[in-house]
Amino acid sequence: MRLERLDHLLSRLGYCSRSEVRQWLRDGRIQITDLPRPQCNSKVDPQQVYVDDEPLDPAQPLYLLYHKGLGSVCAHDDPRSIYDDLPMRWRYRRPVLSSVGRLDRDTSGLLLLSDDGQWLHRWSHPRQAVPRRYRVQLAEPLREDAESIFASGTLRLQGESSPCRPAVLQRLGPREILLTLREGRYHEVRRMLAALGNHVVGLHREAFGPFTLGDLPEHEWRFLRADEWESRP
Ligand code: URA
Repeated sequence: MRLERLDHLLSRLGYCSRSEVRQWLRDGRIQITDLPRPQCNSKVDPQQVYVDDEPLDPAQPLYLLYHKGLGSVCAHDDPRSIYDDLPMRWRYRRPVLSSVGRLDRDTSGLLLLSDDGQWLHRWSHPRQAVPRRYRVQLAEPLREDAESIFASGTLRLQGESSPCRPAVLQRLGPREILLTLREGRYHEVRRMLAALGNHVVGLHREAFGPFTLGDLPEHEWRFLRADEWESRP
């Protein structure tokens, strides 16, 4: 296990500033297994550090599955940021947490979050063409040839030079579909349906690659298990 200076570790994980660590030590809020008198500059194993009797958050990268609710946005600096659903201290954690792609304000569903840049890149890179499945509610009954148009790989959205990648459409009812895309362009689902003269009134991402929400409620998150975050697109 990599040892790290106590004050550096706690500020990097967003618990407090480096200068506050001294006060926290005086107040007895920090305990370290096998180190009865820790100092700010003590080199510590993060797994042996307790703050207010709780073990530290993982010092290594975080890998999270998150259920976004309607009305929040994926930006950090918005009064309705998705990051408000996570522990407050994670806002100060370095490196910064980001999502794999984004969902609109009016879209709910599955997001992956991490502070591991390489992992984020791997899951979001267009070359991987990770399938993302959306449940879509429509204002109008869907036209009959929608499956073949979406599957053709020729649908061109306004202002885009290349056509959408082939997408798989499954009808659940006259105004409800599942749509699986292998790319993530800006407002893509809404724009694809608009190109067919329809209008999306409800949009929810159910799956991203092998990941699904299971019974995770809206606005909640969980750590991915090692076998989940170690999987490859
Ligand atoms: N397509 C959209 O239109 N919005 C999303 O949030 C995701 C995909």
